[in-house]
Amino acid sequence: MDFQKLSFTIAVLCIALLAQIAAGAEPLYHTCTTYKNFTANRDYDRNLNILLNDLYYNTPASGYKYISVSGKKSKNDSVYGSALCRGDISKADCQICVFEAAKVIRQICPYHIAANIWYDYCSLEYSNFNDFGYPLSTGYFIRSEFRVSSPLSSLAQIQKFLYGLSDEASASKNLFAKGIIEIEGHLLLYVYGLVQCPLDLTPANCSTCIKGRIDDLSDLFDGKGAQFVSATCNVRYEFYPFFKP
Ligand SMILES: *[C@@H]1O[C@H](CO)[C@@H](O)[C@H](O)[C@H]1NC(C)=O
Ligand SMILES: *[C@@H]1O[C@H](CO)[C@@H](O)[C@H](O)[C@H]1NC(C)=O
Ligand SMILES: *[C@@H]1O[C@H](CO)[C@@H](O)[C@H](O)[C@H]1NC(C)=O
Repeated sequence: MDFQKLSFTIAVLCIALLAQIAAGAEPLYHTCTTYKNFTANRDYDRNLNILLNDLYYNTPASGYKYISVSGKKSKNDSVYGSALCRGDISKADCQICVFEAAKVIRQICPYHIAANIWYDYCSLEYSNFNDFGYPLSTGYFIRSEFRVSSPLSSLAQIQKFLYGLSDEASASKNLFAKGIIEIEGHLLLYVYGLVQCPLDLTPANCSTCIKGRIDDLSDLFDGKGAQFVSATCNVRYEFYPFFKP
């Protein structure tokens, strides 16, 4: 076996292994719209498969991809979709996550005309309308299981830290920022924060979405981490490292 073949085999084995690990990752949340369903094996079904396949191949690492597939016979069969990978993961992790999301969304929302799914590393959505992602209200709060006995006085510091990440993200080219701070008066107690928007948002809209959610998250503050996922922005803070520092 020559070296090229060997390294190819190793790469394939690695992807298979990673796919198994990723396959174990449960979706954080999903929604299947129920107002309309499509028919199996008709144009919408086919176009949706084309779209999901395209997202898998074309979503860049730490990036965002929007794709539409036009209905040939009827505009009603057009599908619009997007995928967003977390800003700090590799191309391989991004592809594995989008692959899994595309597979699972078809299993749990089989003939639903529109759906969203969120994972730790990526999110994916599709719809028969070109206006998904709005309004901002379609999002979900997820509480962390991990709790620290942190006094409420840390709240202001954590909010300020997340506001800072929001400014950093909206000034960055991929609308993403993450960071770590040590809680004042608590030696070695750290907060890990991450914020991100899909690239179809303007920096101003991104900042509005993130800052609004930071204010909402503070209602939940009780020493547990929390995250907000939506089609317009993701905000997360935890008291343990959920990303590589
Ligand atoms: C679409 O399918 C789901 C699940 O099978 C069902 O709950 C829902 O009522 C259907 N919607 C319509 C409009 O038929
Ligand atoms: C497209 O959808 C609209 C609204 O549901 C319907 O009135 C129209 O007949 C559909 N067109 C085709 C070609 O199916
Ligand atoms: C984005 O920002 C513009 C200008 O501030 C505003 O008019 C628009 O409503 C915002 N869109 C969303 C979805 O927040």
